[in-house]
Amino acid sequence: MLVIGGGIIGLAIAWRSAQRGLKVTVADPEPGGGAAGVAAGMLAAVTELHYGEQTLLALNLESARRYPAFAAELEEASGHSVGYRACGTLAVALDTDDRAHLRELHALQQRSGLDAQWLSGRECRRLEPMLAPGVRGGLRVDGDHQVDPRRLAAALVTACERAGVRLHRGWAARLLVERDRAAGAVLADGTELRAGQTVLAGGSLSGRLAGLPADALPPVRPVKGQVLRLAVPAPLAPFLSRTVRAVVRGSHVYLVPRANGELVIGATSEELGFDTTVTAGGVYELLRDAHELVPGITELPLTETRAGLRPGSPDNAPLLGPSALPGLLLATGHYRNGVLLTPLTGDAIATALATGVLPEEVHPFTPDRFLPAAPASQEQLV
Ligand code: GLY
Repeated sequence: MLVIGGGIIGLAIAWRSAQRGLKVTVADPEPGGGAAGVAAGMLAAVTELHYGEQTLLALNLESARRYPAFAAELEEASGHSVGYRACGTLAVALDTDDRAHLRELHALQQRSGLDAQWLSGRECRRLEPMLAPGVRGGLRVDGDHQVDPRRLAAALVTACERAGVRLHRGWAARLLVERDRAAGAVLADGTELRAGQTVLAGGSLSGRLAGLPADALPPVRPVKGQVLRLAVPAPLAPFLSRTVRAVVRGSHVYLVPRANGELVIGATSEELGFDTTVTAGGVYELLRDAHELVPGITELPLTETRAGLRPGSPDNAPLLGPSALPGLLLATGHYRNGVLLTPLTGDAIATALATGVLPEEVHPFTPDRFLPAAPASQEQLV
């Protein structure tokens, strides 16, 4: 089988498939690269809950539940730490409007049976003394953790190599289609990689693969996110003990503290096509909003600015499972939840490839929900 795209989603599928005895090739110019090189790595099923996304919530929670075992198994298989940290999250409000918004989120969380505790501003600052004095209240969510996506990607590359996955360093330029069935891909240098089953896991680039019939083309688009990295010097640690986030003037800002002293600040959300320019405006907005939350950040060295592309989908949920073209499965469109959904996506797509049956938990996310025609049978995988 062939996986087009060696980001964390493609690699998790490849690793899990190889564990099931399948012969796997991954095509990617830079395996382990992609959006994971920029992402902060929040596992935020509860704090990123939105109205109308209850079905996605169930998927997110299931993947979060699998994370500790997934991280431990991957660390064992690769010999690398993935930086999984069960640190929890604090979502805070800076003014009356933010507080009303957060109260609404809390009510939705409670209706959904989720664990989130309302705190006064003083209680928030007792938990996180670096917070601004003006914080008006917050939600303590002890179940939303973090992982380091760069370490996760590096560990997946090693685990894949050790499991016998062939990493072919080249981008698939065109899907091979023979007798109305996917048959692999042709790389930019003309190399043909033939496969009985092909998985398209190309993140925001998934819709750009030539040769895809219109009804198998995933409706994904790039959503730019600019992210900053700061360093907390040892004498100032622990600067923050958990992820701290807020919605400031309608924009999400979050600060994710790593055990090694890195502090990741994200993220803008911009619909600008395939543009990954880091802009003065983006950096300014992130620093301005983060500074309102945690004024002390201005003392810290700024070590990196990057922009990545989330693979957005029309309903903000991923496309998982068989496409309209026999022999081609999709694993893309994870939007804001790619890191969170990596364990579940790897398990589900590998199961589908190995057994021909797509696990029930991903049935609501099959690509046929975007087709105008009647949905194909879940059984018709290959
Ligand atoms: N889930 C965080 C982000 O997409 O910015």
